[in-house]
Amino acid sequence: MGVVLGIDVSTTATKAIVVDDGGRVLGIASSAYGFEVPKPLWSEQDPGLWWTAAQDAIPGALAAAGVTGSDVEVVGLTGQMHGLVLLDAADAVIRPAILWNDQRTAAECDAIRAALGPAHLVEVTGNDALTGFTAPKLAWVRAHEPAAWARAAHVLLPKDYLRLRLTGEHATDKADGSGTILFRLAARDWSGEVLAALGIDPAWMPATFEGPAVTGVVTAPAAVATGLRAGTPVVAGGGDQAANAVGVGAVVPGRVALSVGTSGVIFATADAPLYEPAGRVHAFCHAVPGRWHLMSVMLSAAGSLRWFRDTLAPGEAFGDLAASAGEVQAGSAGVLFLPYLSGERSPHPDPLARGAFAGLTLAHDRRHLTRAVMEGVAFGLRDGLDLMVAAGMPRPSQILGSGGGTASPVWRQILADVLGAAIATPTTTEGAAFGAAVLAAVGADWFATVEAATDEIVHAAPATEPGPDAPAYAEFHARYRALYPALAPTFHGMAR
Ligand code: XUL
Repeated sequence: MGVVLGIDVSTTATKAIVVDDGGRVLGIASSAYGFEVPKPLWSEQDPGLWWTAAQDAIPGALAAAGVTGSDVEVVGLTGQMHGLVLLDAADAVIRPAILWNDQRTAAECDAIRAALGPAHLVEVTGNDALTGFTAPKLAWVRAHEPAAWARAAHVLLPKDYLRLRLTGEHATDKADGSGTILFRLAARDWSGEVLAALGIDPAWMPATFEGPAVTGVVTAPAAVATGLRAGTPVVAGGGDQAANAVGVGAVVPGRVALSVGTSGVIFATADAPLYEPAGRVHAFCHAVPGRWHLMSVMLSAAGSLRWFRDTLAPGEAFGDLAASAGEVQAGSAGVLFLPYLSGERSPHPDPLARGAFAGLTLAHDRRHLTRAVMEGVAFGLRDGLDLMVAAGMPRPSQILGSGGGTASPVWRQILADVLGAAIATPTTTEGAAFGAAVLAAVGADWFATVEAATDEIVHAAPATEPGPDAPAYAEFHARYRALYPALAPTFHGMAR
C-alpha cells in the first residue's frame, strides 16, 4: 500500500503522520521534548533532540498505521520556523539552536534596519527585522560568540537539520527560507545584497526548493535508524505556518486561514510578493510553488484565555467559561481587553506591549471579563487582517478557522462578527504535519499540483456567518484601536 509521511519538528515535539492517497490519516506518533531558557528572553533547543524524537515518532507512526517503511513513497517535512541551527564544516552542531520565540536580538534588529535602511529592508525581504527571525540571531552570534562564528560553515532551519540527518543534504524550502529575512522575497531565494550587508557568507546557506520538490533521499544509516526505506525521496515541505495553510486548503488567493491556538495567525495566500510597507504583517513565500502569503501573528490569542482561566477561573473547563461569555451582550458592557500579554508582533511589533483591561465598573462580573478577552483577541486579529487588505489582499468573505479558540461557538460567532467573514472549519485537523504529507503526496505525483491535492482531500464544515452584532463591533473595534497608542508610553515605562 502506498502512503506518504508528514513530519513536524515543532517547539514541543516531533510528530509523524501517515496519510493515504485519499487524505486519510492512518497513524500518528509524537515524541516530546523541552526547550531551555538559559537567560530571561532566551529560548534554545539541542538539535539532537529533533533527531532522537524522529527516530521514535517515525517508527511509531508506521506501527500505528499498520504499514512498514517500504510502504512510504515520499516524506514531507515541516517545523518551527526562524530557528538558527549553526553547523561546522563537518556538520557538527556548534551551539544550541536559537528558537523562533527567543527575544535576545533587539540591538541586532536595530543594526539590520540601519544597515539596509528600514524601508529598503521591507522592500527586499518583505519584512521588518523582528527579534524572532533568523538574520538577527546570526548577527547576535557574530557579536557575542566569535569562537562559534569562526567555526560556522552551514546555517539551517530546524526541520532542515532533520532533513540533513535523513538525507545528508543541506536544503530548505522557500517558506522557511523567506522566514530568515535573508531572502529576496520576489526572487524566492537568498538575497546577495542582504547577505553581503550583514556579512554572512552565501556559501553557508542551504539550497532552496519549492515545497513539493524532492531535495534528497533517505540514506542507508538513516533508514536503519528510522525504519524508512533507503532511497525514499524527501520533499522540501514548508515552514509550519505555510504547511498548516496547505493542510487546511488555504492555497489560492482569496482563501484565508485563521488559527486561534496559543498564538493567533491570519494567513492569506497571494499570487504576487505583496508586503505591508511598514512590515507590520509578515510577507513570506508560500509552500505552494510560485505563491506567496501575508501573515499576521498575534502572540497571545487562546493563550490570553488560558491565562485568564488559570489566573481568575482556575479549574473551570474552557467550554463552560466560553459559554458563560455568551450570557452577556456584544461589547462586554463597555470592557475592553488588550491581548498583548507576551508583547506583540502584528500589528504592533513591540516586545514591550502589555495586556490591559479598560472600562471596568462595579457592574461587571467574570462573564464580562471573559467576553472582553475573547473580543480583544478578535479585535487584534482584525487589525492584522486590515493591514493585509491594505497591502493588497482582497477582503475575504470566508475564513478557514482552526485551533482550540474556534471550537467555541461563542468565540466563533465573535470572530465572524468582528472579522466580517464567515468562519468555516476544515475537516483536516492535523495541522502542519498534514500539510507536509500533502506536499509529499504532490512530490509522489499522486496529484499534479498542491491545489489539486487540497481540492480533492481537504473539505470544510459549514460556516458561522457574521450576525446582527457585526455593525456594533465596528464601533467597539475603533475604541479598542485607540487604546494601544494611548497606553504604549505607560507600557514602555513600566517594562523599563
Ligand atoms: C511563524 C512563527 C511560529 C513558529 C512556531 O512566524 O514564528 O509559527 O514557526 O512554530
